[in-house]
Amino acid sequence: MTKVRKPLISGNWKMHHNHFEALQLVQKLSYLITPDDFAAVDVSIHPPFTDLRTVQTYLISEKEPIPIALGAQHCHYDDTGAFTGEVSPAFLAKLEVAYVIAGHSERREVFGETDEQVNAKVHAILRHGMTPILCCGETLEEREASHTEAKVTGQVEAGLAGLTADQVAGLVLAYEPIWAIGTGRTASSEDAQGVCGLVRTVVEGRFGAEAAAGVRIQYGGSVKPTNAAELMAQPDIDGALVGGASLDADDFARIVGYRS
Ligand code: PGA
Repeated sequence: MTKVRKPLISGNWKMHHNHFEALQLVQKLSYLITPDDFAAVDVSIHPPFTDLRTVQTYLISEKEPIPIALGAQHCHYDDTGAFTGEVSPAFLAKLEVAYVIAGHSERREVFGETDEQVNAKVHAILRHGMTPILCCGETLEEREASHTEAKVTGQVEAGLAGLTADQVAGLVLAYEPIWAIGTGRTASSEDAQGVCGLVRTVVEGRFGAEAAAGVRIQYGGSVKPTNAAELMAQPDIDGALVGGASLDADDFARIVGYRS
């Protein structure tokens, strides 16, 4: 069965690659990802802030602009102000950033981001015409204590609070079990489908059937060329948020081309 939702494969580079290295990686990707792949899936890359301008200039400088969407990993929820070290969503929009990750578990766990802050960021990203990729996911202890459902439901409901059904229909959610991030341990495709299905049910309960049918839900956590096709075949998985494997042009291009 063909999915109506166009999958989105996103590369989250985290704090890797300076702007010279970023340019090399994006150049390789632009040669490796085929027109057929671009027709079948949306692709975004999320380099560090210091690389965004370089990558953006490259993407639009070719005769045919390269259809890789520019993404950011994070932003602040205010447009300007005395927030040393933070980055405004308005500035990202000016750089033609299309997608911004909000509430990645590393931001929540390492930098103490709360559900309320994540929700404010989601609103700010939308206010500037960009698409949030709102992350949720449980720790290993929470999974073992059967708290996955409660944790993920709480994060999704809090993250989407105050949005309209139309806004929700157009955004992206990413289910990333924390125990699978950067560990080489992937959730089985059944487990990943189970939680992504739950996320869609939560969206339906709050925002209705149309929003639930429209929202794209990515899986993230040790996605590799070898497991991408099986994960993507699940009915409620509409893409992947890829960390480690997105730093290797060949691996990321193979994940984007998972259908072949
Ligand atoms: P990983 O990271 O693919 O390296 O597990 C995923 C993520 O944190 O988005």
